[in-house]
Amino acid sequence: MRKPLIDKSCTSKIETAIKYELGHFYLYKHLAICMQAVGYFGAMDYFLAESKEEDDHALKHINFLNDMGVMAKLPSLSPEKEVPTELYEALELAFENEKDLLDYYKSFYKEEVLENPEIAEHLNFYIKTQVEAVGFYGDMLSLMESEKDNKNICMIVDSKLKKLA
Ligand SMILES: [Fe+2]
Repeated sequence: MRKPLIDKSCTSKIETAIKYELGHFYLYKHLAICMQAVGYFGAMDYFLAESKEEDDHALKHINFLNDMGVMAKLPSLSPEKEVPTELYEALELAFENEKDLLDYYKSFYKEEVLENPEIAEHLNFYIKTQVEAVGFYGDMLSLMESEKDNKNICMIVDSKLKKLA
């Protein structure tokens, strides 16, 4: 084992980030299955693609820790409790989870970057990714809210998600 080039506090924050990213990997698989069950196949495809991306995000943290001479500890994950049956509900869950993670990365950045500049470059990718995810789900929710009287809005959003998957 190499001598770690990163302190314990940063390591444990990255391990928490791995837990979040793998949690999202799992969340999106769950949302894909929930949407498949109610016939939103565009949303299913979109969430499956998201799930793969979350797996990559976790791996990027694991590789960063390895570069820093640390072997990542993988977390145990707990099952998702909520089972959305509406497209809006699934998008809302995605939005809330992405927003939580954005807040987490922001505090991580504030707490560690001055003392550990090497962490800045690594975290920038995640902050950008979170801002895009929060923005995207926020847009989908706004669209559904402003078109709530349109009977076809769920199918419109579902086909939009299919194109983006
Ligand atoms: Fe992610």
